[in-house]
Amino acid sequence: MTQEVARWVEVLPLQRLADQAILCVRVEAVDMLLVRDGERVFACERACPHEQADLSLGRVAGGRLSCPRHLASFDLNDGHISPGWPSRPLRRYPTRIRDGRIWVDAAAIESAAR
Ligand code: FES
Repeated sequence: MTQEVARWVEVLPLQRLADQAILCVRVEAVDMLLVRDGERVFACERACPHEQADLSLGRVAGGRLSCPRHLASFDLNDGHISPGWPSRPLRRYPTRIRDGRIWVDAAAIESAAR
């Protein structure tokens, strides 16, 4: 198995997440969310994998992103949905913070789209 080489793209200043925990962004033509949980920042798909509700209207707490429609929640560390829901995990994309800016791995976005 070959390991994909990361291709980091700059998305936003980290400061943009100072006053809100969820931001909608479009990276490499993919709608996604930047989610802040305390000091950590995650990037994930915007549409809920259960029935495609808009997760930007959800809430973040304790390392979980809650869906506004059925209130299932996703672990931001591994994407797994709360027990009892028939859904694949939430798609997440690697992020990093450099020079006060948020970067997302575009190679992972392309890989997830295949
Ligand atoms: S649509 Fe998100 S939990 Fe059902």
